[in-house]
Amino acid sequence: MTEAQDRARATWSAGDFDAIAQRIWDVGDELVEKVGIKPGERVLDVACGTGNVSIPAAAKGAEVTGLDITPQLLEDAKRNAEKYGVEVEWVEGDAQDLPFEDNSFDVVVSTFGCMFAPDHAKAAAEIVRVLKPGGRFGVVAWRPEGNIGKFFMTIAKYAPPPPEGFQPPPLWGVRDHVTEIFGPTGAELEFEDGAAHWRFESEDETVEEYSQKFGPIALLRPRRERPRRRDAEPRNKLAASQLVELHSIPASQGRIAGYPMGEDQSGSNERGSVASPENQLHSASP
Ligand SMILES: C[S@@+](CC[C@H](N)C(=O)[O-])C[C@H]1O[C@@H](n2cnc3c(N)ncnc32)[C@H](O)[C@@H]1O
Repeated sequence: MTEAQDRARATWSAGDFDAIAQRIWDVGDELVEKVGIKPGERVLDVACGTGNVSIPAAAKGAEVTGLDITPQLLEDAKRNAEKYGVEVEWVEGDAQDLPFEDNSFDVVVSTFGCMFAPDHAKAAAEIVRVLKPGGRFGVVAWRPEGNIGKFFMTIAKYAPPPPEGFQPPPLWGVRDHVTEIFGPTGAELEFEDGAAHWRFESEDETVEEYSQKFGPIALLRPRRERPRRRDAEPRNKLAASQLVELHSIPASQGRIAGYPMGEDQSGSNERGSVASPENQLHSASP
């Protein structure tokens, strides 16, 4: 196991990511609609977390595989799938080295997932490699200039430096970067901006929830044990308060990218759109 893989597991198994995911679960439903998942299609959800895209895709009648590097989240995903009464195959693995044959899936999806793989070009190449000719994919990623992009920059100030070669995840929200990483694959891309909305009762609730449940912040908790000035705030609480200070109730920008594969790869000239510019990707918490 590489240091980056270890770090990813430690980060996302800390806290209670499912509680955070539930707040913007609808982004998964929306992505499923955008990519037009149909019954019987083979669908791969990369970095599936606790199943927010896999589960609605399976509810459409698709044959879904959810892959994630963090086994604890796959356990939560299994429970969620049971709750929704759907079957999904859950696979532990790395987005940079997908354990599937070439041309295996009709659709690949990822919400705020493949963006966390350290090597973006590798993750992009893997998405396209496992797609069948004419396949399509839909990715939702945070933009650096959106609230969550700023949120991650704030957390980074308090976290140890990332492993060597780890590219900043919000670059997946930069169109030029996404165009560059998919360049060698020949995939055709379309982009769309959208927003996800979290609703909290109070700033205190936001701070409490993120301090305790959001892995990248919860992971900072051991630092509280270190000697510090008597009046210093615990570091994880400080990072979460800064989030609130910076962004109040976050209404974060997401970005969606998708494509129908072009002639050069698929032999088909079919062009679908997974993200028409006039439709915004909106998500509201339940
Ligand atoms: C912000 S969570 C998003 C999870 C889910 N897609 C959602 O939207 O709720 C990021 C996910 O990426 C997973 N992850 C991080 N690095 C990964 C990698 N290299 N390969 C596969 N999964 C990875 C984490 O385990 C975590 O589930």
